[in-house]
Amino acid sequence: MPQGAIKVRQATVYIDSEALRYNLNRVKQLAPKAKIVSMVKANAYGHGVKDCLAALSSSDAFGVACLEEALEIRELGYTQPITLIEGIFSADEMLQVIENEIEVIVHHQAQLDWLLANKEQYLAKNLKVWVKLNSGMNRLGFKVPEIIQVINDLKQQGFNCVLAMHFANADADHHPLNEQQKNQFLHVKEACAPIMGSCCNSAAILKWPELNFDFVRPGIMLYGASPFADKSVHELDLKPVMTFTAEIIALNHIEAGESVGYGSTFVADQAMDIAIVSIGYGDGYPRAFPKQNYVSLNGQATRVIGRVAMDMIAIDVTGLKAPLGTVVELWGKDRLVDDVAEANGTIGYELLCRMSARPIRKKL
Ligand SMILES: Cc1ncc(COP(=O)(O)O)c(C=O)c1O
Repeated sequence: MPQGAIKVRQATVYIDSEALRYNLNRVKQLAPKAKIVSMVKANAYGHGVKDCLAALSSSDAFGVACLEEALEIRELGYTQPITLIEGIFSADEMLQVIENEIEVIVHHQAQLDWLLANKEQYLAKNLKVWVKLNSGMNRLGFKVPEIIQVINDLKQQGFNCVLAMHFANADADHHPLNEQQKNQFLHVKEACAPIMGSCCNSAAILKWPELNFDFVRPGIMLYGASPFADKSVHELDLKPVMTFTAEIIALNHIEAGESVGYGSTFVADQAMDIAIVSIGYGDGYPRAFPKQNYVSLNGQATRVIGRVAMDMIAIDVTGLKAPLGTVVELWGKDRLVDDVAEANGTIGYELLCRMSARPIRKKL
């Protein structure tokens, strides 16, 4: 280290662009005829949209949740179509949408009115309109039969429409809503034929190749986490993109009966060696784990003990070689984010998306 330089806190998020490209290729293999709308909302599921766009640049299009996210993509110079999956939230956004060649979803009457009020400009840019079907998830969309009327009117006015739908239970094998949603989608698609269709997120891409249609919308699988509770990314042949690490900054020996951390929730039942790792909920590491959680120390699952604090955790290194400065993997290729999520009663999506800005970000 050069004299005078400070060694900054080594909580680090590594982004593996090769893994992203690999996962995108998996989508291409699974849906060879469909165009790929890579979902990069929420800062590319917490991975950092700038680096992810570069690795995902061979996507046919991008999907985001709001105009600000779409404009960021345009500012970075990407010219692919972008879909606003919730559409716009006020009439004022329409001019910016059109100017920046962004495509909207319409899911309620007011959005339809805003679109029709700007019909000539929208059509002049050759932008598609995504029309959302509410087939039972009951978040967004027009129900049957109203949607058929909406689409047929739009088509008559010259709009190029995509019928869009989202499954509520694509990750579940036998949920009765899956059949209902599929049937409604197919019914509307036929009633409005010819029309392009899009209903597959990651779970549906992996399970129902017959539903790929014109556009698939992969999110979590691109980032190498699993949409299924019972199948790991390794089983799905996907590669984790994010590796989250930190360093051991202190070592303690404690005797039986001594406690560790806030609330003294962990009490040693025998003498043990513990290491303090510089990571905490201030970095995005989850605090509340109802089940035993682990980190990976040189490939070995090592248990987290006591409460997670804002900046630190304690791990049990009894009998392990773990000197100061040892790097610990919180999640990544050894310790899967989905397993950390499971220990915390949540899903990998949440842990990835809520990464804080504090860890250093590096490309692998
Ligand atoms: C409309 C829509 N399509 C696709 C996706 C991607 O889903 P996943 O990350 O499960 O692939 C999402 C994610 O929330 C979504 O809201």
